[in-house]
Amino acid sequence: MAGKRVLVRCDFNVPIHNGRITDPTRIEATLETIRYILKEGGSPVLCSHLGRPKERSPEFSLKPVAEQLSAALGFKVPLAPDCIGDVTGRMVSALKPGEALLLENLRFHPEEEANDRDFAHELARGKDVYVNDAFGAAHRAHASTAGVAQLFSERAGGFLMMREIEALGFVVNSPPRPAIAILGGAKVSDKIGVIKHLLLKLDTFLIGGAMAYTFLKARGTPVGRSRVEEDKLELARELMEAAQKQGVNFVLPSDHVVAESPDKPETAAVVSEIPANMMGLDIGPRTAEDFIARLSGAKTVIWNGPLGLFENAAFAAGTLKVGEALAGCTGVKSIIGGGDTAAAVGHQPWSHGFTHISTGGGATLEYLEGRELPGLKALDC
Ligand code: 3PG
Repeated sequence: MAGKRVLVRCDFNVPIHNGRITDPTRIEATLETIRYILKEGGSPVLCSHLGRPKERSPEFSLKPVAEQLSAALGFKVPLAPDCIGDVTGRMVSALKPGEALLLENLRFHPEEEANDRDFAHELARGKDVYVNDAFGAAHRAHASTAGVAQLFSERAGGFLMMREIEALGFVVNSPPRPAIAILGGAKVSDKIGVIKHLLLKLDTFLIGGAMAYTFLKARGTPVGRSRVEEDKLELARELMEAAQKQGVNFVLPSDHVVAESPDKPETAAVVSEIPANMMGLDIGPRTAEDFIARLSGAKTVIWNGPLGLFENAAFAAGTLKVGEALAGCTGVKSIIGGGDTAAAVGHQPWSHGFTHISTGGGATLEYLEGRELPGLKALDC
């Protein structure tokens, strides 16, 4: 790395509210790679997308990220006015060993998402080495994740990328048994690929979240006004049959926290059977205890999707109880999916008890579905 300019693709797609970063996890997770390049005498040239801008606009600027990086690294990380172009090119050439630069949002150029060849060449110009640490964007075949990698003879995954692959790879490649998946979230349709792929590798699936009601209805259990994907009932039946054939435990909630609607938490009650005028919004306490009991003795646990509508405190107890119990389990590799799951349990005081909390959303799901991620393929790893 010494004396080299290193193009580092990061996933700095962080939540920003009123110009302030509300969750800097993805920035912090990349610091190890940045510090390593600096320590080796290289100059990191950092690039990322932020959001899905239709055109260049200040609300999608990476300026708050440059400030956060400067504070974390203890020296100023300037923000280049663009990711390509002459001005940015001069800033890159002027970098001295031990200095870093952040390029402006890659998606200000539609050529980024089009994986445009010329744009990739522009991005590569003036840099000697390519490092991809953006696991969260590895499922995108974009210029900065796919096209550009081919233009460097020296390319590598960053430390975050490697941690993610090691942890998620552990789940998809013969995980130590008993191996359990905790799956939640709103939709069965988001998890079909994961269930199908992991059905052959795991022993037990613990199902919560709104997706559980589609499975319960498919099984003939009354679900009242709970959210159900009517067009997935047949598929839900097939998945449960497939699980049974494989000898896999497919466990659905046996009690529920219900309410008249998500915005009427004052009507919340715990029930075993969901009344016709109520909807299920969290797993009940008996289900939480059942899930926790089943976790004991597990060697591998992968969790993707909250078990209730955790954003509302009235419907967060199931997710938090199971999360805290899992974090306290010993002798288990516990891998937490990114996105909502990380938002629900990743910042709790006990969250250090998990083996790994993924920074990916869509990328994590696609990896668990066994799909090839273009960002990884381009690195040849
Ligand atoms: C994410 O937040 O999952 C990644 O940064 C990818 O973002 P995208 O879905 O806008 O490509």
